Amino acid sequence: MKIRLPLVFLIVLSFLPSCSSENETPKIEPPPPPAVSVPFPEAMYVQNGCASCHGMGGNGRGTRTQLLSNSRIPNFQDKSTYLYGSSKEAIAKSIKNGIPGTYMKAYSHMRKTEIEAVAEYIQKMQK
Ligand code: HEC
Repeated sequence: MKIRLPLVFLIVLSFLPSCSSENETPKIEPPPPPAVSVPFPEAMYVQNGCASCHGMGGNGRGTRTQLLSNSRIPNFQDKSTYLYGSSKEAIAKSIKNGIPGTYMKAYSHMRKTEIEAVAEYIQKMQK
């Protein structure tokens, strides 16, 4: 049997209007949330282990004090205890390059914006 294509088309078309009612509100998907590109300094301070040596408040009393018993450890709250500078730039440099020969390792894998955010976070601890 030979089906006549134009006829099939017409039949299909005649059904189409019933599918889309005019009152039906189109479904609008909410836009995806914006990607998080702002560093969350406190989380980075904890996740990178800074808090374990430097303490949550930056006073040098973290959970690894045992390891650091023979080390000098700065008190981030007291500017006079920084050996390598307490400015944002100096702190960022200490983080990026580390302090060779000490437990303070280089965090060169961190992004510049992340290092700067953590440096600012440390600065806020200063009294
Ligand atoms: C394993 C322990 C340890 C960890 C983890 C650690 N530090 Fe340190 N940090 C030290 C020690 C010890 C010193 C002091 C080194 C010295 O006196 O030469 C230091 C020094 C510093 C200094 C320089 C302070 C000064 O005297 O000028 C800054 C800034 C600093 N750390 C920030 C951080 C940040 C931010 C992190 C996490 C990204 C971090 N540290 C992780 C042990 C640690």
